[in-house]
Amino acid sequence: MSSRPNPRGRPTTSARRTTVLIGAVSATLLTGTLFHPMVANAATTLGAAAAQSGRYFGTAISTGRLNDSTYTRIANAEFNMVTAENEMKIDATEPNQNQFNFSNADRVFDWATQNGKKVRGHTLAWHSQQPNWMQNMSGTALRSAMKNHITKVMQHYQGKIPYWDVVNEAYDDSSGGRRSSNLQSTGNDWIEDAFKTARAADSTAKLCYNDYNTDNSTWAKTKGVYAMVKDFKARGVPIDCVGFQSHFNSGSPYPSNYRANLESFAALGVDVQITELDIEGSGQTQANTFANVTKDCLAIPRCNGITVWGVRDSDSWRASGTPLLFDNSGNKKAAYTSVLAALNAAPPVDPTDPTTPTTPTTPTTPTTPTTPTDPTDPTDPTDPTGDGCTATLTVQDSWNGGFVASVKVSAASSISGWTVGLTLPNGSSISNVWNGTRSGTSVSNVAWNGSVGSGRSAEFGFQGTGSASGVSAASCTAR
Ligand code: XIL
Repeated sequence: MSSRPNPRGRPTTSARRTTVLIGAVSATLLTGTLFHPMVANAATTLGAAAAQSGRYFGTAISTGRLNDSTYTRIANAEFNMVTAENEMKIDATEPNQNQFNFSNADRVFDWATQNGKKVRGHTLAWHSQQPNWMQNMSGTALRSAMKNHITKVMQHYQGKIPYWDVVNEAYDDSSGGRRSSNLQSTGNDWIEDAFKTARAADSTAKLCYNDYNTDNSTWAKTKGVYAMVKDFKARGVPIDCVGFQSHFNSGSPYPSNYRANLESFAALGVDVQITELDIEGSGQTQANTFANVTKDCLAIPRCNGITVWGVRDSDSWRASGTPLLFDNSGNKKAAYTSVLAALNAAPPVDPTDPTTPTTPTTPTTPTTPTTPTDPTDPTDPTDPTGDGCTATLTVQDSWNGGFVASVKVSAASSISGWTVGLTLPNGSSISNVWNGTRSGTSVSNVAWNGSVGSGRSAEFGFQGTGSASGVSAASCTAR
């Protein structure tokens, strides 16, 4: 149980597209066939209504309730994303060190996927809900155990879970610094180590940092997490998304700067998701707050979706606060009606228009900050190729026998695809590439990061065996 503080250059047809769209389009592609864009008639369920703008609407699911037919009827009809409320946590999946048990996790996963839903993975590294053996660990043994846990759990669901909460609740509630925990005591780099391990374990998953009390941009905790994400993006630590739990009540109310806060995180080049929404209260006041939170997500192209933390009020971890969309009998509350209406009012995704969602964005939302160079200028020392793009390689981490590197692909003029040629020292080889497709020592874009707007950049990463010294990006060719 978590302790809570509060009640607590080359003009192509894509030349006019901006990099901001890459995030929006990628979110749409990632959701793939599950979320068919719909136009015209208002949708009658939360999942279908969210899908109209390429988003999902999810709920936490608990295995203990899968025999309750009212619960499964509502959950199946209304939601198209599922988070296991407890079943994928560390104590559930690794009760004894290196002995994994996925029986309950798989029950939630199977129920969701057999009913056409996707699953958010929750959660891999956390100070809370650790099994006893882990609670008693420290130092390098704990760091290794954390990495082993991340690797084994992600490999079990390899390619099947689009978003993983890699690290949960690592920040202190008031100082803006890290929360003290056994994981924190293994060294300040434990969070980036967790993300790098996660990327190597399943390069198809988007990797999220998830926390609560990060909803108000003026709070020290929010600023601490923001600084971490900014730093990770600047240094190429693989982070793709930030989850905002958004457990609201009188002690931790919905803040007026909620939308601006989500927007500022998205502007760092990450997706944002509302991951555990519950709002204590009742009637129209509660309904209005639920609608406002929904509209805030819909206003931000990189807000992929909303998950509520349970189905009926009686299913909630905070049941006495009646914080959900269905009452104890399974009836739709005013909050349900207001959320559905807000979702239906969102501009629909037009499948023929690659620039949708059309929700306006602030002009300050580049995927990654860049210093564009002139790719056509052969005298530019930072341009390794002069062929439409510039590739900059950074070795993120290296150890005896291996390394992780990231490569930034910058475009001075809009491009619709890219290929980077890598040079490796004798004896070194590439073992794993993420956000790119490898052919020998060349890496090309994947579907969602090929279009790079003027002055913008895309990024991929790879893990190698052997020495990192002399690894470089030798060429960059745009299409
Ligand atoms: C909660 C569950 O809802 C409870 O059933 C359990 O007893 C404790 O954890 N932040 C998180 C979630 O990331 O995993 C927590 O879920 C709620 C707070």
